[in-house]
Amino acid sequence: MTPSHSVVTLTGPGGVGKTTLALLVAAAAHGHFPAGTVLVELADVRSAADVVPAIATALGVPDSGTADRVEAVASFVGNRRLLLVLDNIEHVLPCAPAVATLVSVCPALTILTTGRSRCGSEPNVRCGWRRWTTTRRSGCSANG
Ligand SMILES: Nc1ncnc2c1ncn2[C@@H]1O[C@H](COP(=O)(O)OP(=O)(O)OP(=O)(O)O)[C@@H](O)[C@H]1O
Ligand SMILES: [Mg+2]
Repeated sequence: MTPSHSVVTLTGPGGVGKTTLALLVAAAAHGHFPAGTVLVELADVRSAADVVPAIATALGVPDSGTADRVEAVASFVGNRRLLLVLDNIEHVLPCAPAVATLVSVCPALTILTTGRSRCGSEPNVRCGWRRWTTTRRSGCSANG
């Protein structure tokens, strides 16, 4: 996984090892992301509307009181080559448009998600028995 990927989704049944694998992948990809890797644990986030605020908190984006937290996070990330790991996204899937906006506005932001179901309408890619879903910035590819 490199910054050429905008969103990588790792799906599978509960307990299969998604989070473990995501953290290993993030560690292995560390050198590609000089601005760092930030883990956002979504298991306790109650609604899709709370996902971007959770990302903002994890990143340390100051809460300026503006309603548009997506814009605040996008502005904070800017052009930085950053990896965001969104763990346990399955129960807040309606956040997908906000996630898509972030990666479209932030050219070097990569998001790795784990979930028991898919985040968006990306093409499926299978690696062994695991299902990966990826979106490349320059379109879609069948490479995980
Ligand atoms: N490759 C592996 N070999 C042995 N044990 C593993 C492996 N990957 C994960 N585990 C163990 O399996 C358990 C579940 O792993 P993990 O929490 O990563 O699963 P998960 O798919 O993220 O689960 P959930 O859907 O509940 O979030 C953990 O105790 C973890 O240490
Ligand atoms: Mg997990």
